Amino acid sequence: MRRTPEPAELMDDPAQARAYADADFDASNALFVALFGRLHPGGFRGRALDLGCGPGDIPIRLARAHPDAAIDAVDGAEAMLAIARRAAAAEPQVAARLRWLRAIVPDPALETGAYDAVLSNSLLHHVGDPVGLWRTVRDAARPGAAVLAMDLARPADEGEVERLLALHAVGAPDLVLRDFRASLHAAYRVEEVREQLAAAGLAGLEVAMVSDRHLAVYGRLPAG
Ligand SMILES: C[S@@+](CC[C@H](N)C(=O)[O-])C[C@H]1O[C@@H](n2cnc3c(N)ncnc32)[C@H](O)[C@@H]1O
Repeated sequence: MRRTPEPAELMDDPAQARAYADADFDASNALFVALFGRLHPGGFRGRALDLGCGPGDIPIRLARAHPDAAIDAVDGAEAMLAIARRAAAAEPQVAARLRWLRAIVPDPALETGAYDAVLSNSLLHHVGDPVGLWRTVRDAARPGAAVLAMDLARPADEGEVERLLALHAVGAPDLVLRDFRASLHAAYRVEEVREQLAAAGLAGLEVAMVSDRHLAVYGRLPAG
């Protein structure tokens, strides 16, 4: 199936952001936290950067699971950041270790060589410049930093799109179904992600399917 880019890069419409925040991503967000845990079996301590944090569920879960983590969470959409700030405010111990930053990646204002882990979930298929995203990951990370980026993988054909929608979005509101369908069409395939990583000098990272619909890029940058 040919790739069809998302109609808009940012999710800055308040109704769309609210519908996304209310949708059930428990399984995939838990998978992300588990994969991050595998990269840090003894727990993570240090600074993490989450690119395209959306309504903030993943950085909040990570901050809960790793009490020595400080996380900068970036999104270009103020509608998403507003939801994330409100969600975190309910847990002051967690909120104190989270910073919500508005930036559109790639953004030269982001700190470079600063982070012990660089993360993103479901951002890659949204960005207009995927190699620019991977360069941002590379530049933001310290030598030896962990990288974990998960996203949908584009299905082989429309039949597979419908199968995944029926399996994972049954009963979801129309807006969520529309966005899920668009995301599956906009997603990349494992081979395409490997090419992007090579173009950004990150060919050492692994790329693999981690569920029936998700791929993940993971590993560590060279220690320097
Ligand atoms: C599908 S959502 C994923 C949100 C979150 N990571 C999660 O897993 O729930 C993608 C998010 O990336 C943001 N986004 C898209 N392109 C971006 C860019 N170039 N820079 C920063 N944020 C971007 C959107 O506004 C949206 O909040």
